[in-house]
Amino acid sequence: MDIRSEFLNFFKSKGHEITPSSPLVPDDSSLLFTNAGMVPFKSIFTGEIPVPKPPRKTSCQTCIRAGGKHNDLDNVGYTARHHTFFEMLGNFSFGDYFKKDAIAYAWEFVTEILKFPKDRLYVTIHTDDDEAFELWQKFISKERIYRFGDKDNFWQMGDTGPCGPCSEIFYDQGEEHFKGEEDYMGGEGDRFLEIWNLVFMQYERNSDGSLTPLPKPSIDTGMGLERITAIKEGKFSNFDSSLFMPLIDTLSKLCKKSYVYEEGASFRVIADHIRSSVFLLAQGVSFDKEGRGYVLRRILRRALRHGYLLGFKEPFMYKLVDKVCELMGGHYSYLNEKKEFVKEQIKLEEERFLSTIENGIEIFNEELAKTQKIFSGEVAFKLYDTYGFPLDLTADMLREKGLLVDEDKFDFLMQEQKNRAKASWKGSGDKNTSGDFKNLLEKFKQNIFSGYENTCEKSKILALLDENFKEISKLKTGQIGWIMLESTPFYATSGGQVGDTGKIGQSPVLDTQKFFNLNLSQVKAEENLESGQVVLARIDTEKRQQIARHHSATHLLHFALRKILGTHISQAGSLVEFNKLRFDFTHPKALSKEELESIENLVNEMILNSHEAKLEILPLDEAKKSGAIALFNEKYQEKVRVLTLGESKELCGGTHVENTAQIGSFFIIKESGVSAGVRRIEAVVSKAALNFNQKNIEALNILKEELKTNDLLSGIKKLKNELLELKNELKNSHKEELHSKEINGTQICVQCVDRGDIKAMIDEFKNGFNQAVVLLLQVKNGKITLAAGVKNCPLKAGEIVKNAALILGGNGGGRDDFATAGGKDLSKIDEALKQSLISIENGLKN
Ligand code: ALA
Repeated sequence: MDIRSEFLNFFKSKGHEITPSSPLVPDDSSLLFTNAGMVPFKSIFTGEIPVPKPPRKTSCQTCIRAGGKHNDLDNVGYTARHHTFFEMLGNFSFGDYFKKDAIAYAWEFVTEILKFPKDRLYVTIHTDDDEAFELWQKFISKERIYRFGDKDNFWQMGDTGPCGPCSEIFYDQGEEHFKGEEDYMGGEGDRFLEIWNLVFMQYERNSDGSLTPLPKPSIDTGMGLERITAIKEGKFSNFDSSLFMPLIDTLSKLCKKSYVYEEGASFRVIADHIRSSVFLLAQGVSFDKEGRGYVLRRILRRALRHGYLLGFKEPFMYKLVDKVCELMGGHYSYLNEKKEFVKEQIKLEEERFLSTIENGIEIFNEELAKTQKIFSGEVAFKLYDTYGFPLDLTADMLREKGLLVDEDKFDFLMQEQKNRAKASWKGSGDKNTSGDFKNLLEKFKQNIFSGYENTCEKSKILALLDENFKEISKLKTGQIGWIMLESTPFYATSGGQVGDTGKIGQSPVLDTQKFFNLNLSQVKAEENLESGQVVLARIDTEKRQQIARHHSATHLLHFALRKILGTHISQAGSLVEFNKLRFDFTHPKALSKEELESIENLVNEMILNSHEAKLEILPLDEAKKSGAIALFNEKYQEKVRVLTLGESKELCGGTHVENTAQIGSFFIIKESGVSAGVRRIEAVVSKAALNFNQKNIEALNILKEELKTNDLLSGIKKLKNELLELKNELKNSHKEELHSKEINGTQICVQCVDRGDIKAMIDEFKNGFNQAVVLLLQVKNGKITLAAGVKNCPLKAGEIVKNAALILGGNGGGRDDFATAGGKDLSKIDEALKQSLISIENGLKN
């Protein structure tokens, strides 16, 4: 039985529209991840945007609960039903049907489609919900209806947001299998399994904790696909079902250990965590030191630690990616497209962690031996900071020993270091829920964007809003506010492209943004503006042209990156401004100089080839089939714009050049890392490129001038001379004084010197006299060096050193005026000096 399609089709038959699963990273800053099926519909529940038609939807939503309010990470592996990643089946009513129908639909699906025996079913309701009590009795006897308080039967998305009392359906897995003390309705045991939560959405929780009634009571339900699958397959744990066992079997083969449920926590942790890791990576989240990427890192590292327990000493998680894609790729085809990239990212992260895990575990064990009850917060912090052990990993390791970690100390140290890792996403509730968007949407639905064709247009002011987005009838001179035109040439920030500026009437437009489907321009009024008035709207065309050039270049860059680095490159973000573009993409390492050069060259080639821009408006499916690249997290309309520039073909709602030649030229100004596996290129084109180059050339010229005129070279020369002089002085200050005497007009010197360069000393001595004979000895490293010099007299330097060297057990010789030799026998130095002096004196006397 394909439970997913049975569910969706059942609700389709009840008038619900099937909605595809939204991204795991929600378009909502108050949430870390999509943690329930209702998240994509939050603004409809709260009345921020109008109710769609039909006012009922159904979906199978991928969810992550590993941070923020609903965090199951610590339990995963140790229970039969907790997961970090799961699929939630749900039906939603936006002010349409309420409790009665929700209960009736649920009962019908469970008993008639799933065919769960009625005598296995129980329900819970909120203590105060007498209405639900009455309604349920139509299907189930009152002994099987249990009342519980807020803890169990009040559901809310986060610390803020829509919420309400709920009613849950339970399935009795049988007394014969579960005999524990906690195996009663409401107990902690596994016998009674909650299978479906029906939330009666009635309130919105505000950031101060108070509740505001929702405009219309609504329905939000959630049924875990994993649980239902397990029950249908007669399994008592989700992990025993066909959704997980193939993963556990693959793992078992890899580690060559068989899986036994009782001792299988590590297997289950890994089987669960590989699913969340693959989905998050495939959807563009990357390993990081903070925020969502840090949660992903924590999940993977927790799995790696369990892999370590199973005996893995090498990367192994990446080997499970194929299996996840095989199991889930049928429903989520993007997994297959991203498979190789995901594998590579996981392997790299495994390598990063493996390089420290062993040392970390050693430190952990040392501290463990000293621990009585509470493991040191300092050591936990060190493990975190130096060895990459997330706190919950350390806590997880301690849990097996029944110990706790000093979290307060850890938090204190974390705080002290101003660590950014603790992004809490606890619900800011800061979206403009108080704005008057709903009224505008109801009145006008949306306004027209004419800026693909027009740069200037006369149009009617449909509405004016003040800075807090409250509708006003007049905007007075000097006031800042927002204008909604019936038809506007101003592009609103989206798809990375910044909003247009320009003028509306006399008033400068500071920015243009989209709020839900409304395109609003922010102005500083230079004259009084009134709702209903017709005004001339003119965008800053010069700026727009520059923006278009940078935007088109971004597409060429994306193409060049994929061509040169490979098709694992996916866009991870972009910013297109009038003077710069920034493009983030998935790639495991920094780009080399050669790679950057090739990319720059290819983009410039595509510019020079003057490709006409080709624009088509196609149904989304057709566009994707034609090979156009779409972004995963982007919400596309049913009809999309497809832009072709040469070989580049992408879905894009931005504004572009008509021909690539208009881009002029393209220069990469910077390449850097954003987070693990994500790189960033910043570049400039056309006038900004010209500017960039002119500045570079200017800087180069200034440098050249300075080299030439600023005496830099002569300064260096002067310094060199000074250095030489200093060196000489230093040498002289170290050299030993020579003693000489005169014989027949010739100065002679025979001496053993400790300090100074004997060859230089000989030259200097010779320079000082007309006739000279000099023999110097020096001992260095146990060896004797001899050198002799002769000037204007009949003796021969070669012979002098040779005779002396013979006495010293060595040898040598050389020219008549200068010679060197070596000797070994230090005990003969005095004798050699004496003999040499005698023979020189004799030589001169003759
Ligand atoms: N939003 C409800 C839940 O997640 C259905 O349980």
